[in-house]
Amino acid sequence: MTVICAFGMQWGDEGKGRIVDLLAANTGVVVRFQGGANAGHTVLVGDEKYVLHMLPSGVIQSSTVNVVAGGVVIDPWVLMDEVDDLARRGISLDDRLKVSDRAHVVLPYHRLMDQAMEKLRGAAAIGTTSRGIGPTYGDKTTRDGLRVADLLALRDSRDSRPSRDRLLGNVVARNEILERAGLDTLDPQTVLEDAQEVAERIRPYVTDTTEWLLDAWEAGRDILLEGAQGHGLDLDHGTYPFVTSSNTGPSAVGSGTGLPPKAIDHVLGIVKAYTTRVGAGPFPTRDEEAAGRYLADKGREFGATTGRPRQCGWFDGVLARRAVRSQGVDAVALLKLDVLSGLEQLQLGTAYELDGCRIDAPPALADDWARCRPVYSAYDGWAAEIGDVRRFEDLPAEARTYVRALQDVLGVPIEIISVGAERACVIETARGVPVSA
Ligand code: IMP
Repeated sequence: MTVICAFGMQWGDEGKGRIVDLLAANTGVVVRFQGGANAGHTVLVGDEKYVLHMLPSGVIQSSTVNVVAGGVVIDPWVLMDEVDDLARRGISLDDRLKVSDRAHVVLPYHRLMDQAMEKLRGAAAIGTTSRGIGPTYGDKTTRDGLRVADLLALRDSRDSRPSRDRLLGNVVARNEILERAGLDTLDPQTVLEDAQEVAERIRPYVTDTTEWLLDAWEAGRDILLEGAQGHGLDLDHGTYPFVTSSNTGPSAVGSGTGLPPKAIDHVLGIVKAYTTRVGAGPFPTRDEEAAGRYLADKGREFGATTGRPRQCGWFDGVLARRAVRSQGVDAVALLKLDVLSGLEQLQLGTAYELDGCRIDAPPALADDWARCRPVYSAYDGWAAEIGDVRRFEDLPAEARTYVRALQDVLGVPIEIISVGAERACVIETARGVPVSA
């Protein structure tokens, strides 16, 4: 029995979907524990491309049961459209999907509120995905939210009053803010009826996932916990306020699933061989010159959820090392090493310089973080394409040197190296990259 938590250590888009799909081949249960439809996890199998926003990336492996746990904010329309889309493509989730009755629900006013709040922030806008994530977590925290159990209760004439009244009251209150932001308002009755309708679609999958997961864990089943976004976007550890509204790593597993924190046996941190970011906020190792454009182009760096171009730059060792240490990372999966082929020289950020002082940890203020200048170590690049390489020792010497340097900066073994988007394009190094090879 093993419980693995795989999570992103940068600003999202590390390739979590690809790694979770890979690991899910040997795992019975795959769980999303935070975030929502702001995630865009891509899985490529042959010619088939799956972009998943709400469903765990384990769904493509037919042997898995997939759980959307209580820490996720669920957009029921997106979720059910994904379920229907997979069914059309021959992937049935009938007995393989469990949706938490405790998870909070993203309703139409949350998406509009996301837009309104961004508009009202003006120049300080976060650049959210407009998926209603912040407003839904906000309602959860102020105790105005509706959970999946509330959604199912909307039709029930005996028990539905509190859920229904809260929904209708929320629409009226949010309309005032929407109006102030110059956005369309919503008709409370229409919101209610749409919610009642989608509730019937989601109902067959809803259960007490905490109880289900506790039973699975106690029965010794293998469980894979799939993080969304990344450590730089973590509500507490990231570049606040330019962050998402949840904790993105293993520290969120206890509250997000109902499993005890000690259930996690192995923490796998996921990084790209370089760094990208979408939305506003600090990015010290960003490269706006030719190298950044090369990475964007070759890495096809466009957001899977919004289609926005991602800013690109060099590997940020300060951010990744902090994630390793504070989230208890045991090993790392390194993705998109193949994208670096063809660059003459690589830079690796090992520290920051702020106001003339060298610092090894991120500062608290986003404004200071944005003023940090990276301290780089330079490495020779390599010309050869490496998509067909399956053993570490067959990589070009320069690639081996660069990966070893990354491992040194991270301080934990790099166990998986991805050299292409396809399932097979992987180098596995059971105990990490050898120090000399
Ligand atoms: P929100 O999560 O939609 O509120 O967006 C807050 C910030 O997180 C914005 O900068 C988004 O671009 C970023 N973000 C949210 N989800 C993802 C993701 O899955 N990948 C990359 N960036 C994300």
